[in-house]
Amino acid sequence: MKINKICCIGAGYVGGPTMAVIAKMNPDIQVTIVDINAERIAAWNDKDVSKLPIYEPGLAEIVEETRGRNLFFSTEIDKAINESEMIFISVNTPTKTYGKGKGMAADLKYVELCARNIAEVAKTDKIVVEKSTLPVRTAQAIKSILHNTGNGVNFSILSNPEFLAEGTAIQDLLNPDRVLIGGESEDAIESLANIYGSWVPQEQILRTNVWSSELSKLTANAFLAQRISSINAISELCEKTEANVGEVARAIGMDSRIGSKFLNASIGFGGSCFQKDILNLVYIARSYGLTAVADYWEQVIILNDHQKRRFSDNLISTLYNTVSGKKIAMLGWAFKKDTNDTRESAAIYVADHLLSEQANIAVYDPKVSEQRVQADLNYLQTRSEEENAKLVSCFEDPYEAVKDAHAIAIMTEWDEFKTYDWKKIHAVMKKPAFIFDGRNILDEDTMTKIGFEYSSIGK
Ligand code: UDX
Ligand code: ADP
Repeated sequence: MKINKICCIGAGYVGGPTMAVIAKMNPDIQVTIVDINAERIAAWNDKDVSKLPIYEPGLAEIVEETRGRNLFFSTEIDKAINESEMIFISVNTPTKTYGKGKGMAADLKYVELCARNIAEVAKTDKIVVEKSTLPVRTAQAIKSILHNTGNGVNFSILSNPEFLAEGTAIQDLLNPDRVLIGGESEDAIESLANIYGSWVPQEQILRTNVWSSELSKLTANAFLAQRISSINAISELCEKTEANVGEVARAIGMDSRIGSKFLNASIGFGGSCFQKDILNLVYIARSYGLTAVADYWEQVIILNDHQKRRFSDNLISTLYNTVSGKKIAMLGWAFKKDTNDTRESAAIYVADHLLSEQANIAVYDPKVSEQRVQADLNYLQTRSEEENAKLVSCFEDPYEAVKDAHAIAIMTEWDEFKTYDWKKIHAVMKKPAFIFDGRNILDEDTMTKIGFEYSSIGK
């Protein structure tokens, strides 16, 4: 089946960049991204592409090229569903915050609503593609809803998990290691493979059964997160001994079986995927009675939480066991560089802990708004919104953020932090001036020579 029109439900960090690249590489296909959030759609349609709701290097250029040509953003969900032969479901699947599986299982209510919406309005046959990360056998649930509530039209369901990482989404989409398509209907699989085929070599497009595809996504994220927890565990041991985690990572990474990527010790991983997907994996394993499997993967999260806590504990003890009334400047709030996404960012938890010790927090992040910072802290419900607003201030200028600070905590590895005038920063801070480099991006010798009390992870 030749696809002429695609609809993507969900204009988020996955749907937006993915559809922009599909539209760029397939100028003959009309791609419409729809969302219930009118404000978000308006931002995607903003003439000024610097105001797009998502910051990703290279994204604005592609949106500028394709928007209005074959890429459209709209709130008219039913219309877009009806017109399209292929519908991607790219809505959020957060960890459940209520009921059975609370804090562990993925909340599929948004996915189910989409399936019901499609079933209700579809008048012609559709290929439905699940793009959101989902527990295994979700496609089955979508299929059941579509077949039992639909208007007698045929639906083929495909699983096509997205492996892009934020901050490098456009590069990851343009040069994917692989594209994974799980499904039953060969025709439907080939229709989707053809869309990717306009820029991805066919041998990199894997075809599997639906459940292998769904489970592969969870497994890939679990393995990646496990690497970070593994190196972070070693970082704590390095701090107690004379070893340096950077040297250890380099030494083990040169073993081609281990590989050198994803071995940067840090304050702990964040982002919308790793924790959520592992919790989901653990929940699924437990629900099948696989206690050893569940416990094994859960440890990755336990270690990650420990790493975040260890960072703030160390900061407090180094500052003579009290941060009460002290200004702590946090450089970076996003969960990694080159994104404005803050979901599960370690910065949120470190800040929350320091605030509970009555610190004053000054935040500078090149891409995250003050509104986002406050919303992230308010979401935790540790203290009132008024208190968060009083204790946390955000700055547009990093040099203002660090003025009179007792300590700087580097939370995100933004490149610009390396280029700052650190002498100037040292001069305006309270002395002794402490730096806690949660990303190991600054040079220890240089910082020490300037006069900083510098500490990093795993050294
Ligand atoms: C991840 C997967 O990489 C991607 O394939 C999947 O589709 C979605 O989840 P993402 O969360 O966007 O992508 O970013 P990623 O680069 O994986 O980083 C996740 C977290 O791990 C960040 O907080 C990052 O700072 C941290 N990290 C990463 C480390 O602490 N050390 C590393 O060596 C690598
Ligand atoms: P992701 O990182 O998975 O892309 P986001 O939260 O960035 O997640 O994006 C998901 C988007 O899906 C949000 O903009 C949200 O408004 C949208 N969404 C959720 N449910 C529906 C729905 N039933 N119909 C349309 N859009 C939806």
